[in-house]
Formats: sequence, C-alpha cells, structure tokens
Amino acid sequence: MSSYQELSTRLAAAGQSQLLRFWSQLTAAQQEHLTAQLDAIDFDEMQRLIADYVLQKPRTAIPGDLGPAPYFPLTPRDAAQVELYARAEAEGERLLRAGKVSCLTVAGGQGTRLGFDGPKGTYPIAPVSGKSLFQYFAESIIRAGEKYGTRFTWYIMTSLLNREATERFFVEHHYFGLEPEQVVFFTQGTMPAIGYDGKLLLAAPDSLSLSPDGHGGTLLALRKSGALARMAREGVEILSYFQVDNPLVPVVNPRFIGLHALEHSQMSAIMLDKTGPFEKLGNFCLSGGRLQIIEYSDLPAELAESRNPDGSLRFIAGSPAIHLLSRSFVESLTAGGSLKLPWHRADKKVPYLDEAGKLVTPEAPNAVKLESFIFDALPLAERTMVMEGEREKMFAPTKNPTGVDSVESCRAMLLARDAAWLEAAGVKIPRTADGRPAAEIEISPRLAIDAADVAAAVKRLGAPVVRAGERLVFHG
Ligand code: UTP
Repeated sequence: MSSYQELSTRLAAAGQSQLLRFWSQLTAAQQEHLTAQLDAIDFDEMQRLIADYVLQKPRTAIPGDLGPAPYFPLTPRDAAQVELYARAEAEGERLLRAGKVSCLTVAGGQGTRLGFDGPKGTYPIAPVSGKSLFQYFAESIIRAGEKYGTRFTWYIMTSLLNREATERFFVEHHYFGLEPEQVVFFTQGTMPAIGYDGKLLLAAPDSLSLSPDGHGGTLLALRKSGALARMAREGVEILSYFQVDNPLVPVVNPRFIGLHALEHSQMSAIMLDKTGPFEKLGNFCLSGGRLQIIEYSDLPAELAESRNPDGSLRFIAGSPAIHLLSRSFVESLTAGGSLKLPWHRADKKVPYLDEAGKLVTPEAPNAVKLESFIFDALPLAERTMVMEGEREKMFAPTKNPTGVDSVESCRAMLLARDAAWLEAAGVKIPRTADGRPAAEIEISPRLAIDAADVAAAVKRLGAPVVRAGERLVFHG
C-alpha cells in the first residue's frame, strides 16, 4: 500500500491532487480505504482516457467496408439447413446433457431507468405471481436441469454496489430451490466518475465516486473471481449469457448451443429483426471479415435506412444481448489478467463533494462514466455465429416502468407467450376483441419452460379451464 508521500507525488503528476483534499481529516482506517482505491488506478492510463474520452467526445469510426452481418435464419433456407438445424439441436442437447454448459447472468447494472430501490433482479416481474426476475430465472434453470438430466451452475455478475443485497436476497429465499453451490456470485470491476474538467470526483472524503465498469467487465471478472477456473474444473465449455432484465429469454437454447459448437464459434449471438431503422438495438455488422455490433446511436442514418432491392432493411439484425461464450475464448482474451476493450462514454449527473466538503447533487450532467460492452469482444473472435431468434419468445427487456421496453410491455409479452403455449397444447384461452388474452395467466417456469413442456404438463394434469377476467398461475 502506498504512503501518503507516494500518493501525493503520483496524484500531483496526474493533475488529481484534489483527491487528497480531506486527507488530514480522515481516520487511519479511512486513509487506508482511500489509498486502496487510489492504488487500484493506473494514473497514466487514466490520463489517456481523460484526454480521449472526457476532454473530447470520442466518435465511433464507421469502417468504409461496413456491411450487414450474415446469420442463420429462423426458418431454414433449404434442405441442407433443415438437416444442419436438426444436427445442431441434437448436438446442443448432447452438450447440455453432458454438463458442458453453464448459465451466466449480468446483474451488475444500476437500473437507473427503472428507478427501483434494490438490485434489478429482485424486481417482482411475473404478471400474476409477482415472482422476482431472479426467481423466474432460478426456476427456469432448475426445470432445464431436470429436462437435460444435469445440474446447471449459474454465474451471476454483481457490482460492488449490489453484491451484498443480491446475495442476501438469495439466502433469504433459499436460493429459490437451487442448491447454494449451484449459484456463483462474482463482482465486476469499477471505474471512477470523471468531471467534465478531467478531475476524478469524490463521493465522500475517503472515497472516489466509483461505478460498475459495464457488462464488458464480465470477461475479466470471470477470470479474476476464479469462475473460469471453476468452469474448467467442472468441464464446462460454454456459457449461456443473458441480461437480468429479460425474463423471456430461454436460459439454455439447444439449437443455438449446437450451432455454436458445429460452427466452432468462440462467441455467438442471437439477432432479431429490428422493428424499424432506428430501433434502439445494436446492429450486427461485418467489417474486414469480422463481426461487430454498432450501437444504434452510432450507425449513420443513411446506413440505418438503406434497403435491399426487395424493400427490406439492409441492417435488419438487432441485438437483444443474448450470447454464447466459449470458455477457451474468455480464457485466451483474459490471459495475463488483463483485457482491453474500447470504452464507451456516458454523460451522467454524478453527486460529488465540493471543495468545502459539501455533497452537491447536480441538476445537469456534470461527469463522464466509462463503460465497456461485452459485444466488443465479438471482433476479437476468429470465429463467430449469429442466429435469428423469435422476439415474442426471447426478448422482453425491463428497462423502464412504463412504455417501450418496460415492466408493462415485459408482463404483456410473458402473458402472451404463456397463452400461446397453452393454446398450442389444446387449452382454450378467452381473448379480447383485439386478440389479447382476456385472462391474466402465468405458467410457472418450475413446471414448463417451452412449448413441449407445456404440452406434456397439460397431458399429465389435464387441460385447465380458463375464464375471462381470471388471474391464474399454472404450477402443476
Ligand atoms: P443496461 O445497459 O440496460 O443498464 O444493462 P442497467 O444498469 O440495467 O439500466 P440503466 O441503463 O441504468 O437504466 C444491461 C444489462 O447489463 C448489466 C445490467 O445489470 C443488465 O443486465 N450490466 C450493466 C452489468 O452487469 N454491469 C454494468 O456495469 C452495466
């Protein structure tokens, strides 16, 4: 641990002496706390980041050869693809049964848009039962384990800010039926908030203002936490990656996993047809033969709006942030304990201590937070694979309380999917004039996680009678 003298010299050279402003008022423990935070920062690198990302607004360079990325379509194109998909499904199932797959959920975000007090995963999302996002995933993982005759390990990435609350939630709820050793929490790294003048901000006299370093932090955190080593010990080769705010996602997807393996992909992705040129999804693109995702805000309008001769969008493929990662890929990316992904700048209102030690809550953005994104690992892979998914069965992000990508839209999608599964299994679902289910129904993921499960459950238990206006949970 550095001495005061060392810190003072280092910070003066970096133009960050303000961070020691309250040093003389700190207790020994507080001084130690601040020193540990400062020692974790490479100030040479920080100065470069400040010059590149804070004092100027970085622009994402759009390569001249940028084109849309190829993908495996939902409906097979020809007989060869029919055969390939059948082989992929068999291979995916084999890998699942052989215990080669674990689940990985990123849950370290701050969920600012949702405005919910607590980790986002603890939000009561299920439309009828009010099960939390974490419970919904946990039960899906248990059911998937039964289905494939294995016990999946579930890696959950938290941040320093929500780790304790997340773990407590699992303990209080007895891991929702999972064995405690099936759940592995790990913590992502942090980045300091930087004021527009290039100075790092203090959140308290003994603490920088730190925030999670983005879901790109997953890769290094997997190594540093020992998660990669555990996967290797358990013979796990593939991580099924999804976000904590999307309860519609299948926790494991045999066709996706099988294609990943058959294509020798290192990192794979699900794509969805965008609803329009400017839908707020990353765009799958190809440049120099490498797959990359360009954020919706960075794709120039003329590209976003360009069309094929048949009128369809050229850049039709949007990313719902559903991936597969090969363990060996994450191992090679993070070999040596470091990984450089590009940073993305976000302008935020960050509370800070002023010169007098008073906490100021700004009314306009005053600082930059830097985050890295997991999809920036795609161009680092030699081999990648993109597969089309069905939006109604895979993607219901819970970003806002109401409106687009909200609690409301997510619940409506969960309900619509469950109603469709029940109908396909022969259950009569009353519908409104405009075709929506006229009852509030929910299938417990503990009972069924796909159409085949629902059909089997209905056969076993008999078809339930669903009346208009009812609120029902099918849990067997
Ligand atoms: P979002 O980018 O939607 O961020 O994260 P968020 O924190 O959930 O919500 P806002 O933007 O503050 O409203 C997408 C996924 O990535 C995870 C989130 O938990 C979510 O599952 N994430 C995000 C992390 O795990 N760590 C991060 O640093 C950022």
